[in-house]
Amino acid sequence: MSHLLNPTQFRAEFPSLDGAVHLASCSQGALSSRLAYALQEIGHSLREEGAPWGTWMGQVERARERFARLIGAEPGEVAVLSCASEAAFQAASSLDWARRPGIVTTDLEFPSIAHVWLAQQQRGAQVRVVADSGEQVAAEAYEELIDESAGLVSVPLHTYRNGARLPVEDVVRLAHEQGARVFVDAYQGAGVTPIDVRRLGCDYLVSGSLKYLLGLPGIAFLYVRGGLEQQRAPELTGWFGRTQPFAFDPRLLDFPGDARRFETGTPPIPSAYAANAGFDLIERIDLHDVRRHVSELVDELAERLTAEGVKVASPAGARGPQVAIADDAPDRLAAALAERRIWTAPRGDLLRLSFHYYNDRSDVDAAVAAISSYRRS
Ligand SMILES: Cc1ncc(COP(=O)(O)O)c(C=O)c1O
Repeated sequence: MSHLLNPTQFRAEFPSLDGAVHLASCSQGALSSRLAYALQEIGHSLREEGAPWGTWMGQVERARERFARLIGAEPGEVAVLSCASEAAFQAASSLDWARRPGIVTTDLEFPSIAHVWLAQQQRGAQVRVVADSGEQVAAEAYEELIDESAGLVSVPLHTYRNGARLPVEDVVRLAHEQGARVFVDAYQGAGVTPIDVRRLGCDYLVSGSLKYLLGLPGIAFLYVRGGLEQQRAPELTGWFGRTQPFAFDPRLLDFPGDARRFETGTPPIPSAYAANAGFDLIERIDLHDVRRHVSELVDELAERLTAEGVKVASPAGARGPQVAIADDAPDRLAAALAERRIWTAPRGDLLRLSFHYYNDRSDVDAAVAAISSYRRS
């Protein structure tokens, strides 16, 4: 398709990459011209319209529709929220732990989500955790913990720790066989891994815009499979969780019949502008091409670092968009790379180097050279 951008054209949309090596998309995507412009647009709306609620709501609706399209869902299946934790809470608070108390999760979950599940213990939930063995998580590890008492099974699409892809489809099948619902945190994949919620079969899926979706912090999207939303109302709400937010009736708690019922107060407007700037770019690339491009760079970096004696902690059979490396002091290594304007993302005992369509082999060369020289010094 000729209107699609190739990696060189895509990179040109990011002047911030001139003189910098951005290997931190697992934390924050690179700054594009579109994003810089979108931030000016917010100022423009305030200057020209004063209190531009109509324009702003248009941005929120547009972002909702575009996220829905990205994952193969309907706009009415997507709630616009401010962070993934809020999305996890909304899903959990509409489940009845008295009937099915089990929550099955994994050590590979981002702590934000894991903490929401743990906090549900106050409401009667019982949390069971698939351990991080350092190897690829197999569906069997989930199977051992999923039984008919499980109400919710939570599995990240890719783990934030090392980018590995988890066996979501198998976990969904096992969970559904036992009557449990499945929550997928797709934050570490959305934007570089094609996602089709109908194929995944999950009941909930969350992502936000700041990482591979090339926006900013402050906005998250919760997909709720059509039909589920009617069952129990979430415990957190606000005027945007109403059938008619602008009806202003403090006595009327009418939850909409779609995923909007999971929304709360005033939506994150500046982040919706930023999310749309990201979608402007994401919609001009084919995510299957992106996945291929990214995995070639990931494999090359992993192999070259391994050859240098670096311990690569991203499993070869299930690598996602990042190469995590084990290091005694990842923050120090990240700071040394930052001196050369190589942006990376240390977390815990790992340093993560992550790729998008704007990265190329020169970024791999730069990372290998800088890490080798750091290790020799
Ligand atoms: C997998 C994953 N989930 C969630 C988050 C963020 O959660 P929240 O939006 O609650 O801050 C991150 C990173 O910031 C992440 O890597």
